[in-house]
Amino acid sequence: MSEIYRASTTAPVNIAVIKYWGKRDPKLNLPTNSSLSVTLSQNDLRTHTTASCSPSYPSEDTLLLNGSPQDVSGARTQACFRELRALRKELEDKDGSLPKLSSYPLKIVSENNFPTAAGLASSAAGFAALVRAIANLYELPASPTDLSRIARQGSGSACRSLFGGYVGWEQGTAQDGSDSVAFQVAPASHWPNMRAIILVVSAAKKGVSSTTGMQTTVATSSLFSARANETVPRRMKEMQEAVQNKDFESFAKTTMVDSNSFHATCLDTYPPIFYLNDVSRAAIKVVEAINAAAGKIIAAYTFDAGPNAVIYYLEENEKDVAGLFKVALGEKEGWAVQRGEAVQANSAALDKV
Ligand code: DP6
Repeated sequence: MSEIYRASTTAPVNIAVIKYWGKRDPKLNLPTNSSLSVTLSQNDLRTHTTASCSPSYPSEDTLLLNGSPQDVSGARTQACFRELRALRKELEDKDGSLPKLSSYPLKIVSENNFPTAAGLASSAAGFAALVRAIANLYELPASPTDLSRIARQGSGSACRSLFGGYVGWEQGTAQDGSDSVAFQVAPASHWPNMRAIILVVSAAKKGVSSTTGMQTTVATSSLFSARANETVPRRMKEMQEAVQNKDFESFAKTTMVDSNSFHATCLDTYPPIFYLNDVSRAAIKVVEAINAAAGKIIAAYTFDAGPNAVIYYLEENEKDVAGLFKVALGEKEGWAVQRGEAVQANSAALDKV
């Protein structure tokens, strides 16, 4: 019996507050603007991945996601496998006594504890976990920055899930993508009372994939260029300052206007892309009502490429924000509330609004 080598890891979902939308190089997943996100706690929405390899495995690499075999022949997965194998090969060439793992077929087994491809950033957690699990298996001395450069090629937003807390993704200028990497703006402990409630409007797979949607936006939207070249660079600065200063009102305002701007460019795409639905818009109204009642901004909504809302708020306003959503929606519809040590996510279903 030949030996089986194995390593496991988990990677959490991240939810952008300044959105990535547009590629300047679709092959390398190089974005047209920088972005910024909050990584949710490991105990909440996450992908668990085990990577193994063995000379005894059948010759093809395989990937099982939530029990179903996935196609690994796509350019993105192949890019991740290729880069990680090349780094392992360098180690093996330097130290002849190392087992030749880079030449063995890989078997990847991943489980998401949330709906896949429903606009809940599943590809972000998925590729981050895949890349880190293989890096662990190969015992690579790679930093989170190095891994973010590889994970980006799997799915752009995945590069941000390699770091915890408040995370930026620098768009970079190099043609080979070497400087298009994630960086930590601040650890979760810097602003530990940040909370996110996830309102699952629909767990169905999204209609237009991010990849297709953003390419069509870049090609057809007349709003897009102002967003990528003027609006987002300004907001990146504002958002980093808001995080540094723990200024929730500024963080929240910028989060909401950036979500609105992203969805406006989607609507301005031809043919138009509609990610928000009536329930999403109802969630926006509830946030507006919460803020009006408080007399200041205590809650912020944001939406990715789907109708599900993520609401950011501070722990001290739990009752006025998460509590109100729960009352509005009915406790029985709520998912179990999970608790993590840092940034925490709650989830509730919004179907009944
Ligand atoms: C709206 O990272 O899924 O969630 O690079 O094509 O895989 P690909 O796209 P993906 O796009 C995420 C878009 C977004 C905004 C964000 O997370 O920044």
